[in-house]
Amino acid sequence: MMESLYHVPVMVQEVLETLVYKKDGVYFDGTLGGGGHAKLILSKINNQARYLGIDRDAEAIKEARKRLKDYNNFYAFQTTFEQIGAVLSEMRVAKLDGILLDLGVSSWQIDNDGRGFSFRKGLSLDMRMDSRQELTAEWILNNYSKDELRKIFKEYGEERFSGKIAYRVVKAREEKKIERSEEVLALIDRCVNPRFATKSYARIFQALRIEVNNELEILKESLGESIKYLGKEGRLVVITYHSLEDRIVKNFMRDAENPCTCPPEFPVCVCEKKQELKRIKPHFIQPSQEEIKTNPRARSAKIRAAIRV
Ligand SMILES: C[S@@+](CC[C@H](N)C(=O)[O-])C[C@H]1O[C@@H](n2cnc3c(N)ncnc32)[C@H](O)[C@@H]1O
Repeated sequence: MMESLYHVPVMVQEVLETLVYKKDGVYFDGTLGGGGHAKLILSKINNQARYLGIDRDAEAIKEARKRLKDYNNFYAFQTTFEQIGAVLSEMRVAKLDGILLDLGVSSWQIDNDGRGFSFRKGLSLDMRMDSRQELTAEWILNNYSKDELRKIFKEYGEERFSGKIAYRVVKAREEKKIERSEEVLALIDRCVNPRFATKSYARIFQALRIEVNNELEILKESLGESIKYLGKEGRLVVITYHSLEDRIVKNFMRDAENPCTCPPEFPVCVCEKKQELKRIKPHFIQPSQEEIKTNPRARSAKIRAAIRV
């Protein structure tokens, strides 16, 4: 497969500048995908360095291994990035120099009809990044209660008509099991203004994907866990693609920079919470217009980066 057909990595120059400060460092890529960022970083670090890549998706691991076969300082693991501790202990690595998280799904996952990530018609409702997992979007649609569906559509999709759509889903499945993407699209069509339907499709499918893969909970847990393994001066670089992810990363980095919880009127700090990160300025970086033109999927990307103190 041609590299660009798998996934075009976003903001590669910005990732390099914020992440790679040591040519012989140990780097952890929690979202390896097809190894787009990995290849570029591997070409800039030397062979004393090590690059550990994680992905939940077996096909991503296969693709990355193929693409990076010439690098003997590259190691790939199929797991989720909150397993960072287990991976590092297997590799006998105590401290990292950089952690990269490029969140969400790859173009390959979205474009591959069999994976059911997209709201194109005629697709199954799967959406699992790790196909060994049991929970699918189809299961959620056919088994979650109306309230549970409303909650995920609202919280993870920020959809205004969450209640109505949840009601339609529950009504529809009383007649027939929901199995295909177009059935969900038709239910959404019954609840929203046709002019804005595409936005609602995207929001509802995003909500289902986040729920299937437990994306936000894993992210919240992993950020705190991951910086335990960053050595002094080590970098944490996170690329987000929507406001829910971005808010989690923004708040985490802000709190790790200013953790003190003492009331402002206290003359000295008594909570004794210590600063763990220093944010790299500007606090976020977005792709250039040129990049967005050549890779429209980069348009919502934002990099946030910080240094371990
Ligand atoms: C945007 S793509 C990464 C693309 C990659 N940076 C590249 O240049 O090819 C995100 C990847 O992260 C993986 N992923 C998402 N959440 C994950 C998690 N919690 N643990 C491990 N992998 C995850 C997805 O399976 C997907 O392959």
